[in-house]
Order: sequence, then C-alpha cells, then structure tokens
Amino acid sequence: MSRALARGWNRPVFVADPVSERAQALVAEVGGEALDTNVEVAEQADLLVLCHKPAQLADVALELAPHAKAVASILAATPLADLHDAYPDRPVYRFIPSLPVEVRQGAVVQATPLKEAEIDAQVSELFAELGTLVMLSDALVDVAMGLMSCAPAYVALVAEAQIDAGVRRGIPAAQSAELVVQTLAGTAELLRRRGNDTLAVRREVASPGGVTARGLAALERGGLRAAFSEALDAVLEPAGPCR
Ligand SMILES: NC(=O)c1ccc[n+]([C@@H]2O[C@H](COP(=O)([O-])OP(=O)(O)OC[C@H]3O[C@@H](n4cnc5c(N)ncnc54)[C@H](OP(=O)(O)O)[C@@H]3O)[C@@H](O)[C@H]2O)c1
Repeated sequence: MSRALARGWNRPVFVADPVSERAQALVAEVGGEALDTNVEVAEQADLLVLCHKPAQLADVALELAPHAKAVASILAATPLADLHDAYPDRPVYRFIPSLPVEVRQGAVVQATPLKEAEIDAQVSELFAELGTLVMLSDALVDVAMGLMSCAPAYVALVAEAQIDAGVRRGIPAAQSAELVVQTLAGTAELLRRRGNDTLAVRREVASPGGVTARGLAALERGGLRAAFSEALDAVLEPAGPCR
C-alpha cells in the first residue's frame, strides 16, 4: 500500500523498509531518498505516513514518537484514540486508502480529527490528490474500509466471473477480458456523471421485459446483493477488518 500511495503522489519521498532494496526500488520510481532507519525518516519528513501492519503500532511508535513531527496512519482497525496514545502531543491523522490510489482513482476515507487543531487542509488535500476523499467519523472508518479498501479484490472477482461466463459461451479469454474490464471502467464513469444514481443507470440499460432485466433477475436469484452484504459483515467480524 505504501508503494501505491507513493506512485499516486509521484513526488519525492523519504522511505525506510525492512528490506532496503524495496525502499530503493520505490525511490528509483518516484524520487526522494531511501534511508537506513525509520528514525531518519521521522526526523526528515514533515509528515510521517505509517504503512506497517496494525499490530506493529506500539513497537514502531516506541522508536518514532520522539522524532515524528506529524503522523498520518493508514492502519486498519486502529482508531484515532490508539494513534494519539502511541504518538502523544503530535498532530495525528487517520486515513484509509484503497489500491487504486496508485492511479489517482482511489477512494480515501479520513477520520474526522478529534481535536479542532488537527483539522489540516494541506494534509487532507495531499490524500485527496489520490482520488476522492470522504470524511467520516472515526467509528465508521472501518465500515468504510470494508466497502472500498477490500473492493478492488471484489471487483476483480466480479470481472473474472463475467470473463469466464463469456469464455464458456465461446469468446476468447483476452477479448472477453477486454470487453468486461472496459465496461467496468466506462460504467464507473457513467455512474459518476449520473450523480452515483445506480438505479438510473440500471433503468437506462434494462428495458421492461428485456434481456438485461432477465440477467439482473438471475443475478438476484444467485444472491449477489446478499453476498456483498455478507462480505461486509465478514470483514467486520470481531477478528478485525482487512489486517
Ligand atoms: N492492502 C490494502 O488494501 C489496505 C487498505 C487500507 C489500509 N491498509 C493498511 O495498510 C497497511 C499496510 O498494508 P499492506 O497491505 O500494504 O501490507 P504489507 O504489504 O504487509 O505492507 C507492510 C509493509 O511494512 C513493512 N514493515 C514491517 N515492519 C516495519 C517497520 N518496523 N517499519 C517499516 N516498515 C515495516 C513490511 O515489511 P515486511 O514485509 O518485510 O514485514 C511491508 O513492506 C496495514 O496497516 C493495513 O491495515 C491496507
């Protein structure tokens, strides 16, 4: 995810990684400097972006809290209160990105800061560069993560299922993939232009009693809607979302 963020921003970064070759490869792409330690990154950076695993929060903060000027976390299931405990007396921001940030088409959620003083337009704008930024209460951020951060995998699965259906009826795999993926991209753009009105787009395509209406009915019988609802419930189970 750190690589996706850096590619999306496409500007020089200070980066440290347990595997130094990975840090160097990233810097070779976007510019900046691969540093030997996290402490050096925290000292040099105006904004420290935490991209490690959620379970590493306390260990990493022990090392970095004295050096960080401001901290932005993308850690799943890590509320603002935990970030404030780990990085006391520092401005702390909580974001959840999604993989398409890499192509600046990501959905990004920001948790509404707990303290008025931590509303920083510059920091929000930095993440808004990566696509669309939506501000939500801290309590809803993990729910949102279950929708948009996990979704690239869901959408890829939906695409795969459609491609396979085409292949089953004789369309070569490459052409089937081209048709399905372009339709996904084009439909996303259409939905945006229609103000995200999914029903309007559905009605435009599905004439009464027509073939699309039959296809939609088959998808409903197959449990598509319930499956997405259950997927979100599964993500939000007590074990925690998308770690
Ligand atoms: N994947 C998503 O779609 C997504 C979406 C939203 C938020 N997130 C959050 O983003 C974070 C990263 O997720 P990911 O999927 O990118 O996981 P990941 O591929 O495992 O990335 C974590 C990276 O942090 C490195 N790392 C481990 N310990 C470190 C340390 N002490 N200092 C600096 N780097 C360290 C890891 O190196 P090693 O591999 O060598 O351990 C690895 O390169 C997680 O907190 C996750 O909850 C992920």
